[in-house]
Amino acid sequence: MSADILVTRHVYPAAIDILRSAGELDYHDSSDGLTPADLRAAVAGKRAVVCQLTDHIDAAFMDSGSRLEVIANVAVGYDNIDIAAATQRGIVVTNTPGVLTDTTADLAFTLMLSAARRIAEADRFLRSGRWQQWEIDMMVGHDIHGHTLGILGFGRIGQGMARRAAGFGMRILYHDAVRADADVERDCGAAYVDLETLLREADFLSLHVPLTDATRHLIGAPELGLMKPTAVLVNTSRGPVVDEAALVEALASGAVASAGLDVFESEPAVHPGLLKLDNVVLVPHIGSASIKTRTRMCTMAAENAAAVLRGERPPNPVNSEVLPAR
Ligand code: DGY
Repeated sequence: MSADILVTRHVYPAAIDILRSAGELDYHDSSDGLTPADLRAAVAGKRAVVCQLTDHIDAAFMDSGSRLEVIANVAVGYDNIDIAAATQRGIVVTNTPGVLTDTTADLAFTLMLSAARRIAEADRFLRSGRWQQWEIDMMVGHDIHGHTLGILGFGRIGQGMARRAAGFGMRILYHDAVRADADVERDCGAAYVDLETLLREADFLSLHVPLTDATRHLIGAPELGLMKPTAVLVNTSRGPVVDEAALVEALASGAVASAGLDVFESEPAVHPGLLKLDNVVLVPHIGSASIKTRTRMCTMAAENAAAVLRGERPPNPVNSEVLPAR
């Protein structure tokens, strides 16, 4: 029997069990992924695709799958998928919102603390055998308590960051294209400000916006220039939100103090300038990387795909306009 479901990369086994109950699988059980040409060949005849943020899902891919009904991304972000092309073709795209909020906010907070207290640098220092004695000014960093956290993008993860910061006695400002409801602001202890105020006042700036045409290079040289020279930038959203070359320049010149980065402009490549700097903590896009969360992301994506194959409404559509009205 020919397969209905293409799974482009390795996923947690619980997702495979869900998918098997909905149809025959073409499972590429490897983390390496397929070339664009192999992806296009593999989608032929499939009704569902379970893909990851490392798969570039464009119109040409969709046109190679004339039976395609659903593209289930194992991620909350979906900038790897041409949503307009999917909508035009009546293909529903789904994502995995909510389940990774706290895990990703935990990592953003970890990066903020690590950059402020120079954890990665101190670890390298100790391992290199350079630690000779306790010194009054050795590896001194910055406090986060009593300081201002600026949150750019106040969706689920941005709000999660605010809740954590409240527990650490921080003042919390945020900016977003859409102002949050008053009860959300109250609950998070966060005040809305314009972007310029956010950049000028933040001791720590944490980015939580999706990648769109409007947010690409949202943080570039002019924005970094508005920040305090003592400020720390944290990015767990998408790499291209920050102009990486401008950030290297700002970190090297002392225009900003340090950074904690989980995402990069051309992953898995990292700007060579960043690799040379001690005042930046670098981790390889692990925001949602807890076993529980990654498992849940996989099962959510599988549930989304399976629902469509059964003729049901998927729980997490991104372009719900292609679905029949409820
Ligand atoms: C996402 O889900 O968009 C993250 O970047 C990976 O968890």
